Amino acid sequence: MTLARPLIWGHRGASFAAPENTLAAFRLAREMGADGVELDAQRCASGEIVVIHDDSLARTTGFAGLVTETPYPVIRALDAGRGERVPLLSEVLEELPLRINVELKCDRADDRGLTAGVVKLVRAAGAADRVLLSSFNPLCLLRARLLAAETPRALLFESEQEWWLRSALAAPVLAAGALHPEHVLATPDRVRRWRRRGYLVACWTVDDPDTASGLVDSGVTGIITNRPDRMRARWP
Ligand code: G3P
Ligand code: MG
Repeated sequence: MTLARPLIWGHRGASFAAPENTLAAFRLAREMGADGVELDAQRCASGEIVVIHDDSLARTTGFAGLVTETPYPVIRALDAGRGERVPLLSEVLEELPLRINVELKCDRADDRGLTAGVVKLVRAAGAADRVLLSSFNPLCLLRARLLAAETPRALLFESEQEWWLRSALAAPVLAAGALHPEHVLATPDRVRRWRRRGYLVACWTVDDPDTASGLVDSGVTGIITNRPDRMRARWP
């Protein structure tokens, strides 16, 4: 029996049961007992920070436009699923009294103000103590370190990346306190090594409680899941 109890993060909210990255999904994650939610942040054409995963609005709203090229009034009018809207990050920070893992979604060197905009909102909401900034893009995390050293950072990586990105190599220079590997990269040996070096480790996207238990047994401290209810049932 393991006594470890991981932090349970709702991936894009409780996105198995509700439209991803919407207030409905975040509220449901809370009702299901998640410790926090993970969400994806981007800066739209008029400068607001909106919560949406893809570069394009098409998959989740049916509108064939890029987030970076579409102004907020247009985005706000779209249906993100079951009548939900694409929320502003400021709305989520204001409404949800949980930990929030804000993933900075940007694959360019110039993030066009995304990181600075997120830092500003987190400060304005007085939420620096419950926000964790993460990104696949080390430059976004470096910016975050320079702009808001007080807000914890997590380095994301996945199996499709080149070897030097798909490891914890950049974490020290970013002063990241946590690693967020795709779960297939979190072998017991690696997890032990990362934990020995002092990192928190949260894996994504894990919806099977037995897979999650195996990860936790090897030292993983957080599970990012579309199904927080299942994980909460495993760790009541
Ligand atoms: O933050 C974990 C996870 O969300 C990273 O992948 O593509 O779902 O944003 P993605
Ligand atoms: Mg994400």
